[in-house]
Amino acid sequence: MRLIIPGSQGILAYPISKNTGIPMGYAELEKLPDGEKYVRIPEQVAGKEIFLVNSFAYTPDEMIIETLFLIDTFKELGSEKIIGIFPYFPYSRLMRRFIKGEAAKLRTVSKLFKTAGLEKMYVVDFHLQNVDEIFDFEVVNISAMPLIADYITKNFELDSPVVVGADQVAEHWAKIVAEKLGCEYRLMRKIRIDAENVVVDSVPEVANMDVVIIDDIISTGGTVVQAIKALKSAGARRIYAACTHPVLSREALKMIYHVGIDGIIGTDTVLSPISHVSVSGLISESIKENEGFV
Ligand code: R5P
Repeated sequence: MRLIIPGSQGILAYPISKNTGIPMGYAELEKLPDGEKYVRIPEQVAGKEIFLVNSFAYTPDEMIIETLFLIDTFKELGSEKIIGIFPYFPYSRLMRRFIKGEAAKLRTVSKLFKTAGLEKMYVVDFHLQNVDEIFDFEVVNISAMPLIADYITKNFELDSPVVVGADQVAEHWAKIVAEKLGCEYRLMRKIRIDAENVVVDSVPEVANMDVVIIDDIISTGGTVVQAIKALKSAGARRIYAACTHPVLSREALKMIYHVGIDGIIGTDTVLSPISHVSVSGLISESIKENEGFV
């Protein structure tokens, strides 16, 4: 028997349940006056395979601790297997220590999930391509880029476009979108100064071209803002941006609109005003394929 249970940010649980036919369950989740988390599972979960759906945006630390409480409680109540459906996974940009003494945060988070009893997880466009090597359990990493490319084709006005990866790491995603759009991709190079500031140190040839900037995450908006400025200076015509995870912290969207953009989209791995593409169908198909549904 299978059961889908949503966490506080498990908004994709219902469409995934509808698409896969896995029944929905329920967990009581509350934030107590002192800031602690209350978690209770009123469902019969013993002997069941649990699909726990949660995203970790806005309040990543709180969502991680809530998810750990849930996993540990499922285990204690005798669930057969716990599978995480975590469309947006935080701390994915810091696997190793760049500065002496810095916490290798992703490594710690991966150990916590393993210890709690997670046996497998589905993620969408995980920042690091070698995600399997980081977690000590099975990971299914799904890409939303083909869906994003479909949205771009249908909704953005493009004339001889070029796809521009926001940095070297974005090459993988820029390539997928460019192939679907039938155009070339090029890469920008950036140097990160701190969490909010980047400097673009290499801009590709884009004069008189429509440009689609592709990135996995738009967080503070620093990268996209600097990319737009650099592409405008390089003579780009229309400029659009697309990402999988529109984290859009603080004033990110305002800053991006202020610098001037012709269109911007993201998916619902993180709910935002630009989440026009849903990954629920994609995740459902992947579950059906990987979990042996007929
Ligand atoms: C970094 O390598 C990522 O791919 C994104 O470029 C980055 O997360 C964007 O962050 P921000 O919007 O804060 O510049």
